[in-house]
Amino acid sequence: MTLPLNQVLLGDCLEVLKTIPDNTIDVCFADPPFNLDKKYTRYSDQRSLEDYLAWCEKWLLELVRVTKPTGSILVHNIPRWLTYYATILNKHAHFRHWIAWDAMSAPLGKTLLPAHYGILFYSKQAKGTKFYEIRAPHKKCRVCDSYLKDYGGKKDQMHPFGTLVSDVWTDIHRIRHAKRRDEHPCQLPIHLLERLILMTTDVGDVVLDPFLGTGTTAIAAKQLQRHYVCIDLDPMYEQIAKDKLAKIEEPTLYHGYAVSMFLGKIQSIRDCDAAQLFPKQLTSVEKKREKKVKQAAQASNGHIAQLTLPEMIPPAV
Ligand SMILES: C[S@@+](CC[C@H](N)C(=O)[O-])C[C@H]1O[C@@H](n2cnc3c(N)ncnc32)[C@H](O)[C@@H]1O
Repeated sequence: MTLPLNQVLLGDCLEVLKTIPDNTIDVCFADPPFNLDKKYTRYSDQRSLEDYLAWCEKWLLELVRVTKPTGSILVHNIPRWLTYYATILNKHAHFRHWIAWDAMSAPLGKTLLPAHYGILFYSKQAKGTKFYEIRAPHKKCRVCDSYLKDYGGKKDQMHPFGTLVSDVWTDIHRIRHAKRRDEHPCQLPIHLLERLILMTTDVGDVVLDPFLGTGTTAIAAKQLQRHYVCIDLDPMYEQIAKDKLAKIEEPTLYHGYAVSMFLGKIQSIRDCDAAQLFPKQLTSVEKKREKKVKQAAQASNGHIAQLTLPEMIPPAV
């Protein structure tokens, strides 16, 4: 059975998932309805607790089934539902991370203000999972352009591009401007998906999303030169997604590397790619050593020029 690559499939995800063979997808991402009575056009977003959780268990198990042994399962939701998802996934996959995505939502009254969504990151198997560390730009003050973090006397040891991304994401914002939104109650930002895809896949891999909405995951996959298999129940969202996908002509490349860009700047890049594009700068200690090597070489008319740095000068302790 072949995979329906690079297609937006209209239908109930449980039905469509049945047609996807076992162990064929590199990463599954799911952003299901949150059962918070959101105004969707095609179904009720207010099920009983038992009904909602029984339904979630069905598609979660399908996602585990279709994921390759090297692949990952990512699920986005509010913390309340993720606690239930974790008890299901713990039986069938391997916990990697709970990513806290710092994104404010509405005050509910008599609770702490909900200020993050969670993204559960599970791998299908305990070992051999495809995973890439991600770098994001150093945070800077918008007005004065200075670094927000105090690197003290260690500035020359800073990575020339940015920092390694942790499991708390504060640098990706929800879509606020109406002009960037579609007719959808909970559309995710494309660069959130791009970061997740860069982290878990290579160019040419396959990304599956059973709740596509207006196309976020498929667009991110296409821009990063990955394949997608995406599903949504609602023909209106399906059409919006297809229209947006048709407009993407070029992948998002920076000197040949697939990266996530936002407002003309790199937002996320794999650490291995950053190592090629932004080579490590010498620290002040290394610069001093290099200078001494050059001076010594000059003083001896180049006779010791072939000596390597460690042979010349013992490392500083
Ligand atoms: C939270 S939204 C996903 C939003 C999406 N991540 C985006 O950025 O646009 C959930 C989506 O799941 C779809 N949906 C709900 N039940 C479904 C089902 N049984 N099968 C497939 N899609 C479904 C809804 O139409 C809705 O677009």
